[in-house]
Amino acid sequence: TTKYRIAVIPGDGIGKEVTPWAQKALEQAVQGAADFEYENFDLGAERYLRDGAILPDEELERIKTTDAILLGAVGDPRIKAGILERGLLLRLRFELDQYVNLRPSKLYKGVTSPLATPGEIDFVVVREGTEGLYCGAGGAVRRDTPAEVATEVSINTAYGVERVVRYAFDLAMKRRKHVTLVHKKNVLVNAGDMWQRIVDRVGREYPEVSHDYCHIDAATIYMVSDPSRFDVILTDNLFGDILTDEAGAVVGGVGYSASGCINACNEFPSMFEPIHGSAPDIAGKGIANPTAAILSAAMLLRHLGFDEDAARIDAAVEADIAELGSTPRSTDEIGRDILARL
Ligand code: NAD
Ligand code: IPM
Ligand code: MN
Repeated sequence: TTKYRIAVIPGDGIGKEVTPWAQKALEQAVQGAADFEYENFDLGAERYLRDGAILPDEELERIKTTDAILLGAVGDPRIKAGILERGLLLRLRFELDQYVNLRPSKLYKGVTSPLATPGEIDFVVVREGTEGLYCGAGGAVRRDTPAEVATEVSINTAYGVERVVRYAFDLAMKRRKHVTLVHKKNVLVNAGDMWQRIVDRVGREYPEVSHDYCHIDAATIYMVSDPSRFDVILTDNLFGDILTDEAGAVVGGVGYSASGCINACNEFPSMFEPIHGSAPDIAGKGIANPTAAILSAAMLLRHLGFDEDAARIDAAVEADIAELGSTPRSTDEIGRDILARL
């Protein structure tokens, strides 16, 4: 049996509560098929408060040698916003060049959508993961004076856009063959126009895939008025962040929304995490839904080529939701119920 090393970063808040269930699902799903070795990384708020470390270089280098990463969530109200988010989570996505942030949304049978007539919802957001406003370009001068100036600069490179566009079209070929570019090209004319031109050019290589365009503001309307129209949504880093939280809400809550931060050329390990955060409002109560984390474990397995084992996790989740989706349950009850079906 082949050996795989998995880095586990539970992180903060409910990340610590849901990640053990994702790991248990992994362990149970691959039983016998492969030898998975887990390496836990103590990174996040507690570590930072204890010794000031956010992501030491040696630990980053060690993470780089693993085959995949399972992450919970990062962020803590005791720590200034951005320190851990940028210094730990985004640093991982950037240093490991995880340029595809893959965020599927599916309305499962048994889940109550807030939409009156949700229809069939099954789409994937392909969010660019290493560029845009997330680069950290920009700065502040004359801080704390009435003349303060703060800038955030969105960086979009033809190289960075083209590789994620290609990923989206390849993915569409395996699905319903439709790509919707979401941007704000009516205002962000430089980046928006470049995204559109690259989509048009790459799209010509995929004659079977149709593509259309939607401004981000209108996309938030269609997400609630007609989500069935979407198959593959292709968008930049910030729009993708916002749209996927809305998508999560539409399919019953972010507690069901998994994601993969993918380095699609496999130069570095990819990272799998729920799209939600550390949820300080419910952390410590034992009520966070571990389903998103468990589905992220399935995405990890699929990425490593264990398609059948991933499918078994998906099926266990689907059956669990169909039967008990509307029953109030604790984190551990949901985790146990899903594992019992595996
Ligand atoms: P959040 O996603 O943590 O929470 C938003 C809402 O969703 C809250 O009401 C929360 O209770 C609920 N929720 C989230 N996950 C849930 C689950 N599994 N089950 C049930 N309910 C769930 O977003 P936020 O409150 O804006 O951010 C909290 C912290 O998390 C911040 O520090 C933020 O920076 C960080 N964050 C981290 C990530 C990440 O690590 N990938 C993602 C988003 C936010
Ligand atoms: C997410 C989060 C992160 C993001 C933050 C915490 C940096 O909101 O994973 O969706 O904006 O990508
Ligand atoms: Mn987000």
